[in-house]
Amino acid sequence: MFANSELEKVKQLQSAYRRRKKAVVEDAWIDETFLDIDILQFFNRVTKLEATEKQKELLIALSNLDDSTLRKIIISAGRQTGKSLCCAVAAVYLTIKHKLPLLIASAKDNYIYGHIVKIFSDNPELSHYVVTQGVSEIVPKEGYKLKNGSELILLTSTEKGLRGASGRIMFLDEAELMDEQTIITALGNLSGDIKLILLGTPSSKHSKFNDILKDPKKFGFNLFTWSETECSWQKDLDDKKRLMTEDQWKREVLGQLSEPDQRLLWDSEIIDRCIRNRWRDIRWY
Ligand SMILES: Nc1ncnc2c1ncn2[C@@H]1O[C@H](COP(=O)(O)OP(=O)(O)O)[C@@H](O)[C@H]1O
Ligand SMILES: [Mg+2]
Repeated sequence: MFANSELEKVKQLQSAYRRRKKAVVEDAWIDETFLDIDILQFFNRVTKLEATEKQKELLIALSNLDDSTLRKIIISAGRQTGKSLCCAVAAVYLTIKHKLPLLIASAKDNYIYGHIVKIFSDNPELSHYVVTQGVSEIVPKEGYKLKNGSELILLTSTEKGLRGASGRIMFLDEAELMDEQTIITALGNLSGDIKLILLGTPSSKHSKFNDILKDPKKFGFNLFTWSETECSWQKDLDDKKRLMTEDQWKREVLGQLSEPDQRLLWDSEIIDRCIRNRWRDIRWY
């Protein structure tokens, strides 16, 4: 039997041991190798895929927070060509490397965040960066916070959802489906250092995404574009060629505006101006 004082000593030793064990675990959270690699190595490591040349160019531009000419980026490419995946990798990379708020909105299911969830679950060593893990996945379904102070916030892709939202980087996925006002609001949020990335596939209907794609320079955007035909993982292209109209092929596979769209498209700005001018001309009796 221990005397009371000895028992106390054992208890103290036990709790010191527990504290030390916890500290060791907490201190070991950073996997330094993630902080030393560049975005191309990071893409390779977390996806186990080899990026295409066009994807590499995009990844480098996405990870560059210093070059002010890369603040506005538009990505237009065929379907399933890795647009959302590249943005997901860039989002994780940037939040690990820098302390920043990063915002993502998608017109449909948030595929960027879907890829992010998978990146964390395929690379459990990343879990040490996460403040509070999710219930079924390493990152919670509504966005994540990292121990370095970074935060990834998911927003709804409406004018209201984006109004006043402030972050250092904003991704708008499936941007061709977003209301014109939503994109204008996102552009309006741009101040100082903010980086805005629009990604999508040209739409058959009028959209602000198409407007910008028609003349990216005019809107101050850098265009990154590639086609499904450059993506070795894309199969059934012969079937698609047979089934699609020429315009569909151009938009959906090549990621380019089709000829009629290009001819028919009016800049929203011009449409607005026409309506405003007509309105002024109307005389009320
Ligand atoms: N470099 C690559 N090598 C191999 N497969 C890739 C590559 N990039 C993307 N993919 C595949 O394409 C799929 C679709 O990517 P995603 O980014 O969701 O497409 P989208 O262009 O429609 O946003 C990925 O889940 C992945 O399987
Ligand atoms: Mg996508």
